[in-house]
Amino acid sequence: MKFPTLYDNHNRPINYVRLAVTDRCNLRCFYCMPENGIKYLPKSALLSYEEMERMLRILAQMGVSKVRITGGEPFVRRDLVPFMQRISQIEGINQIHLTTNGVFTGDYLPQLQSIGIASVNLSLDTLDQQRFKEITRRDDFGKVMQTLEGLLRYNIPTKINAVIMAGKNTQDIIPLTELTRHTPVSVRFIEEMPFNGEGAREESDSVDFWSFRRILAELQTHYPQIYKIPDGKHSTSYNYAIPHHQGTVGIIAAFSRTFCGTCNRIRVTAQGTLKTCLYDDGVLDLKKLMREGASDEEVSQALLYAFRHRPKDGFEAEANRLNHSPVSESMSTIGG
Ligand code: GTP
Ligand code: 5AD
Ligand code: SF4
Repeated sequence: MKFPTLYDNHNRPINYVRLAVTDRCNLRCFYCMPENGIKYLPKSALLSYEEMERMLRILAQMGVSKVRITGGEPFVRRDLVPFMQRISQIEGINQIHLTTNGVFTGDYLPQLQSIGIASVNLSLDTLDQQRFKEITRRDDFGKVMQTLEGLLRYNIPTKINAVIMAGKNTQDIIPLTELTRHTPVSVRFIEEMPFNGEGAREESDSVDFWSFRRILAELQTHYPQIYKIPDGKHSTSYNYAIPHHQGTVGIIAAFSRTFCGTCNRIRVTAQGTLKTCLYDDGVLDLKKLMREGASDEEVSQALLYAFRHRPKDGFEAEANRLNHSPVSESMSTIGG
């Protein structure tokens, strides 16, 4: 069956859903969560796998074809791989991607390959074991590196996500970029956003903020021959190549929000809330709707209403938040 193209009220196609399967994580990256005192949701507050499958079936019929599994850390939820296997069978879903911290992922590579995973984005902010421990508050650097090697061995297309933070890991920009010299990975540097469970830290506003421009300047200083390459139609990253390097480098202006004009994605949080922008505070309670017995048609209509009332960009979404509360929720509940 051929599915329609779904458009929002700004004429942007919507074909990509980011699905957070859990709010839990085995790491405690300080840019994402406080070290202590995070309140995890009880299981009943999360969408069940059956509810997620139903929702994806409805979204697929509306025109969504790409799914990214996120968390928290997706592998913290039990039976993730069989779930991914089942959603890979949904008609209309033709790409399944995964964003993971890589600590447990290495054990599942053959299974990921056999379900035809389209790509894995690995969160890795440093190549230094000590800094890894400081950033993530856990000592799992070795496991993540093993996963990276495994991903390359299995020829699974891989991107590395590194959030760049003043005073924390700016010295990792060049070593991480060096990974692209001999391996076909895409290393993407991300501006830090205030989604850390506490809100803006001083750095976000200060002169020390590592913006897209500043990261690019750093790369240009070390690699004067770096050059721009075309970006995918809905890419979050501005992409660059360095002569003789096998991989590429990208920069995601996540805080500056310069790519909203081509945004093709929606999010469903672990508790089943629809977000039509990362910066909104939730626009539809899908879990409630489904648990109150809504039919597929009713769910579909509610989704369509939300898609036709999307903010034009992340600044408008932020301004529309209830009581204009600044963003502060943990990225682990949103899925990035
Ligand atoms: P690809 O599908 O491989 O392009 O990945 P992606 O960039 O969509 O997903 P990933 O999970 O790797 O996210 C990388 C970073 O980009 C994370 O820090 C996300 O929070 C950020 N990001 C993804 N989508 C958006 C978005 O719509 N707006 C903003 N501001 N940031 C986003
Ligand atoms: N700012 C920018 N990126 C973040 N991520 C998590 N928290 C933040 C933040 N505060 C990134 C992770 C992961 C992706 C899903 O989101 O590095 O790769
Ligand atoms: Fe966990 Fe990812 Fe958040 Fe780090 S960024 S604490 S790995 S959910």
